[in-house]
Amino acid sequence: MSFSILDELGSRAGEKFALHDRYLNPQMVRVLKTIGFDRHYTRAEGAYLFDKTGQRYLDLLSGFGVFAIGRNHPTVKRALADVIAADLPNLVQMDVSPLAGLLAERLLSHLPGQERVFFCNSGTEAVEAAIKLARAATKRAKLVFCEHAFHGLTTGALSLNGDRMFRDGFGPLLADAVPVPWNDLPALEATLRSGDVAAFFVEPIQGKGVNLPADGYLAGAARLCRQHGALFVVDEVQTGLGRTGKFLATDTDAVDADLILLAKALSGGFVPVGAVAGKRWIFDKTFDRMDRAVVHGSTFGKNNLAMAAGLAVLSVLEDEGLMENAARRGESLLRRLQALVARYEMLREVRGRGLMIALEFGPPKALALRAAWSLLEKATKGLFCQMVTIPLFTRHQILTQVAGHEMYVIKLLPPLCLSQEDEDWIVRAFDDVIADCHKFGSAIWDLATTLTGNTLRSSVG
Ligand SMILES: Cc1ncc(COP(=O)(O)O)c(C=O)c1O
Repeated sequence: MSFSILDELGSRAGEKFALHDRYLNPQMVRVLKTIGFDRHYTRAEGAYLFDKTGQRYLDLLSGFGVFAIGRNHPTVKRALADVIAADLPNLVQMDVSPLAGLLAERLLSHLPGQERVFFCNSGTEAVEAAIKLARAATKRAKLVFCEHAFHGLTTGALSLNGDRMFRDGFGPLLADAVPVPWNDLPALEATLRSGDVAAFFVEPIQGKGVNLPADGYLAGAARLCRQHGALFVVDEVQTGLGRTGKFLATDTDAVDADLILLAKALSGGFVPVGAVAGKRWIFDKTFDRMDRAVVHGSTFGKNNLAMAAGLAVLSVLEDEGLMENAARRGESLLRRLQALVARYEMLREVRGRGLMIALEFGPPKALALRAAWSLLEKATKGLFCQMVTIPLFTRHQILTQVAGHEMYVIKLLPPLCLSQEDEDWIVRAFDDVIADCHKFGSAIWDLATTLTGNTLRSSVG
């Protein structure tokens, strides 16, 4: 019998949770079942997922940002199918790839001042590469990163992670990694002054919490790095490729980075890819002799499908005006969600840029609600936000995420093709769910009771 992947999938439909429970990560299955996110999706297109009943969901996670151009984009599908059909040579290894050359050229056309590209397979691999490039170029060891930062979960990148929850239990991590407070130039300067810093790694907008840079912070940090001989490395893995309405988030700040890290959206959501773009002299310090031509790399880096997907994504971003849509749609959505702050005391702030938006919540003043909030937080810090994400999903078919551990922030990271209808859908849904959160005894507080196993009503009512 010949192999058919679709037959195989069809004949086992309905078994995915059991398979994951048995063979992969049963805790993930528990989470999904507990919060009611255990759906059987059968199709995906653009900003939408469809389940087996035909129900449509609006996806505001976009696979943590990889589906910036939307799911299953026809241009990327065609590019991948064409590459496969052409039986091209791939990963010859003792050769150089024409597709990688083309993608490097195309990427650099968006990155004035940058001269070289290194390709890998993920965001965290881009961070690992940048750590090595920075150390080799500067002959220094120390790496500086920001509190609350997220740069990936392999052990080098994890050493630059500002969240204890991710780090705990995996040490010892890199010894020469030093945190500084976000948005604090004097603290950065004090650390750089030691003269032994290889690089400062920074997200232009912090993904965990959607923390925006203060005016002049990134430009100031770049200047300080130059002054003290450290590389200024911007991690645009999440913010890059149009997410904030410009090709790079740092395009707003007019900074000239030494290294720029990209991944996520470049894949089109099909083939994992990462990229480090930067100054020629930095790359030349690492790849400095013929016998060191392969001193850093990875077997699958520059594979044909990843390179073809990247080229297709860059075309789609331009051809469909997605960066412009992210800027315009993001501005409108931000304004409409900000208007809710005046109406709902628990909604403290709505912030963001382009289509990277955070809604931050805080404790209520009304007595009964305040007591219920406290009990909920005693059960698990940050749990309140699940009280919002769950009904957004079950009642309004909107998929969102909490922006990080122990925080009261819900993050929206939708595809950049978001429409007016989607925008209206989001505003209507948040308005409805947040209104319910402000009514003690509403279905949302019943849900809290179920989730915590607490009798919130009898405890505080
Ligand atoms: C800013 C940033 N850097 C690095 C990473 C790691 O990327 P990956 O998950 O592809 O390893 C992420 C992932 O969310 C990220 O947001």
